[in-house]
Amino acid sequence: MTIRIIGTGSCLPENIVTNDDLAKIMDTSDEWISSRTGIRARHLAKEETTAQMSAKAAKQALEEADMKAEDLDLIIVGTLSGDYVTPSTACEVQSLIGADHAVAFDVNAACSGFMFAMNTAYAYIHSGIYKNALIIGAETLSKLMDWNDRSTCVLFGDGAGAAVVTADDTGLMKFTQGSDGSKGMVLACKNRLNNNPLVQNPTEPDYVYMDGQEVYKFAVSTVPASIKKVLEEAGLEVSDIKYFLLHQANIRIIQSVAKRLKADPDKFPTTLEHCGNISAGSVPILLDEVNKKGMLQRGDKIVLAGFGAGLTWSASVMEW
Ligand code: COA
Repeated sequence: MTIRIIGTGSCLPENIVTNDDLAKIMDTSDEWISSRTGIRARHLAKEETTAQMSAKAAKQALEEADMKAEDLDLIIVGTLSGDYVTPSTACEVQSLIGADHAVAFDVNAACSGFMFAMNTAYAYIHSGIYKNALIIGAETLSKLMDWNDRSTCVLFGDGAGAAVVTADDTGLMKFTQGSDGSKGMVLACKNRLNNNPLVQNPTEPDYVYMDGQEVYKFAVSTVPASIKKVLEEAGLEVSDIKYFLLHQANIRIIQSVAKRLKADPDKFPTTLEHCGNISAGSVPILLDEVNKKGMLQRGDKIVLAGFGAGLTWSASVMEW
C-alpha cells in the first residue's frame, strides 16, 4: 500500500512585486537578480495569511480529488512561517475547511517541508492508520525577511500549494529524506524575542540570514545524489522520468542538477520566474501548475525534490 496524489491546488497573494519594483526601494537591479537566480517577480502578501492561502489551495485540491473535507483523516502543513506559534497552521486549515474528523499538525523542515509532510502522510497511510490526507506547503516569508539584506530578501516570495493523497496500490514509489543540523546556521531565522524577564533581549530581532554560497554548494551536491538514490531504489533510469519538479530556489541550481543527472533541462519545469523561492510552498505550487496545464498523464513517472534550511533534503519518485 502506498499513497497517490489525486488532487492539487495552489494560492498566491494578489500583490506582485517585480525586480524593478525592488530596485526602487533598495540598491539592486533586475539584471543582478535575474542573471544570478532566474527570478523576475514574486508575490508578497499584504492581507493574505499562511492559513488562508493554505485553505484556498486545499479547497482546490479537494475539489479535484472529488473528496469532502470531512473525509480527511490527516492534515499536515509544512511551514516555517505560520500565523501563530500555536495553534498550528494545520489546525487553522482544519477549521477553515471544516475537516472535522482530521488530526492536524505542522512540520518545520523549511524548503523540504512539503516533502517531509508527504513522507509523514505515507508512513501513516502505509501502516494502515489513516486513508486520506491533505498535505500542504505554505509560507508568508515576507514577514521574516531582513529587507536591509539585499542578497537574501530578493530571493523569496509567499504562497501555498496543496495535495490530497489517498491509499492506493500505485503512486509514491520511493523516497529519501535527510537532515544535517550541524550546518543549520548557514540558513537561519531566530526572530523571536524572549519574554523571560531574566533574559536580556538583543536590541534588534533577527530575521532570515543566509550564507548563499554554502547553500548553493549543499544544493548542487545533495539534490542530484538523493535523486539518483531514489531512482536506483525504484529500478528506474533518468530517461524514465517525465518531469523533475525541484524546489524553486535558483535556476542555476536547477540547471546544475540537470547537468549532473545528464537529464534534458526541458524536463525541469519552473515557477521561480514569477514566484521566487516560496520555501515549503515551492514544490506543491509547481506541481499544481504542471497538473493544471495538463502536462501529467496517469502512469507518468515524476521526481519531486526539496532542500533547504535545517539543513534538510528529500527526493521522491512517483507514478502519477
Ligand atoms: N543586488 C545587487 N547586488 C547584490 C545583491 C542584490 N540583490 N545582493 C548581493 N549583491 C552584491 C554583493 O554585495 C556582492 O558585492 P561585492 O562583490 O561588491 O561585495 C556581489 O553582489 C556578489 O555577492 P555574492 O553573495 O558573492 O553573490 P553570489 O554570486 O554568490 O550570488 C546568490 C548570491 C544568493 C544569488 C547565490 O549565492 C545563490 O543563489 N545561493 C543559493 C541561495 C539559495 O538558493 N537559497 C535558498 C535555498 S533553500
